Amino acid sequence: MKLEYKINKSKHSVIFCRSNYKGTISKTINSINSDKNILFIYDRNIEKKIVREILSELKITGCNILKIECVSEKLNKNEKLLFKILDILLQNSFTKNSIIVSFGGGVLGDVSALASSLYLRGLNYFCIPTTMTSIVDSSIGGKTAINYKGITNSIGTYYHPKAVFILEKIIKTLPDREFTAGIAEIIKCGIIGENKILELLKNSKKKVIERETSVVFKLCYLTLKTKIKFFLNDIHEKNTRLSLNFGHTFAHAIEMAIEQKLKRDFIRHGEAVGIGMLCEVFYEKKRKEKIFCTIENLLKEYNLPTKIYLNKIPFSKNVLQDSIYKNIFLDKKRAGKNPRFISIGGLQKSRIKEIIDYDHLNETILKAMHE
Ligand SMILES: NC(=O)c1ccc[n+]([C@@H]2O[C@H](COP(=O)([O-])OP(=O)(O)OC[C@H]3O[C@@H](n4cnc5c(N)ncnc54)[C@H](O)[C@@H]3O)[C@@H](O)[C@H]2O)c1
Repeated sequence: MKLEYKINKSKHSVIFCRSNYKGTISKTINSINSDKNILFIYDRNIEKKIVREILSELKITGCNILKIECVSEKLNKNEKLLFKILDILLQNSFTKNSIIVSFGGGVLGDVSALASSLYLRGLNYFCIPTTMTSIVDSSIGGKTAINYKGITNSIGTYYHPKAVFILEKIIKTLPDREFTAGIAEIIKCGIIGENKILELLKNSKKKVIERETSVVFKLCYLTLKTKIKFFLNDIHEKNTRLSLNFGHTFAHAIEMAIEQKLKRDFIRHGEAVGIGMLCEVFYEKKRKEKIFCTIENLLKEYNLPTKIYLNKIPFSKNVLQDSIYKNIFLDKKRAGKNPRFISIGGLQKSRIKEIIDYDHLNETILKAMHE
């Protein structure tokens, strides 16, 4: 199974690999013109056996391979990790024709892709995502980033991997939390763009939860295809692509508010997107009851949070509310004074709107908290 798309004139692909994928990754890497140097950046938490397997796959290419093991957490998504990667590239005289292969979740992918875009203004980048969020969302679309000065994704570029490899082995072995968190981004694509996704989530829940490969691959395929449809003619996010931000104005504000204070990862990005989607639907004065319930029910069915549980956070409701409120005004979609969010007019009908009612914004934030 494969998805292919073109950006300007260059070809990009997403390749689904069953367990007998041997030779697929190496063949794709060898199909590009390179100087045979690979920097392999991988997440410490991935099963060691699978890391070894990928390394032997990379060795088939005949390339010289350097490795960096990283702790992939949102708090490490910073300039320190970025410059660590850039230093290694410089110290080892990598060229524009060298290759970076990232093997990790959204954090590692975003930073590796940013380094790939910056080093000598761009070297060859391949991505092997290892969490559901990175499989169905961050691996494609070309958004790269680090968090800087406490602001999520405040520094970044647009740079696309030549190919993304989705591995059955990863889907089967990743921890439940890293699997489930990505379901929120799948629900998002269903709501904004493709009803078949919602039907599959509703009708094949058992198979999805048991991670039956053909069903999970189909879900990933539909989600990625939907994402491609939204970003392909709007790479720099001026128009259609903005809809992919459904839930994210609130999600980023929630992640920043909690994690800046706790100084550790607390909520997965996907979990925050689930709560964020409910906030954005609730914010609309004429609350869209049916859409709200569709999202809420799906989040519950897949054991995703629908609220922030205050008993798990060591600071008060007021402090959190205040901080989320301020962070909403830092959102990157802000065009003038007001922040913006994605309004859902009905299933698969979305558009960007301003947040103008600040009292109702506060009410919405309160509604997202559970005592
Ligand atoms: N570029 C984009 O378009 C885009 C889209 C969505 C999210 N993102 C970014 O992605 C990040 C979130 O990604 P994430 O949820 O994958 O988080 P993550 O990369 O922090 O991974 C979450 C946790 O899972 C662990 N992990 C990863 N793969 C594993 C595996 N196979 N087995 C065991 N443990 C594993 C990591 O070590 C980490 O502890 C955020 O920074 C967000 O901004 C970017």
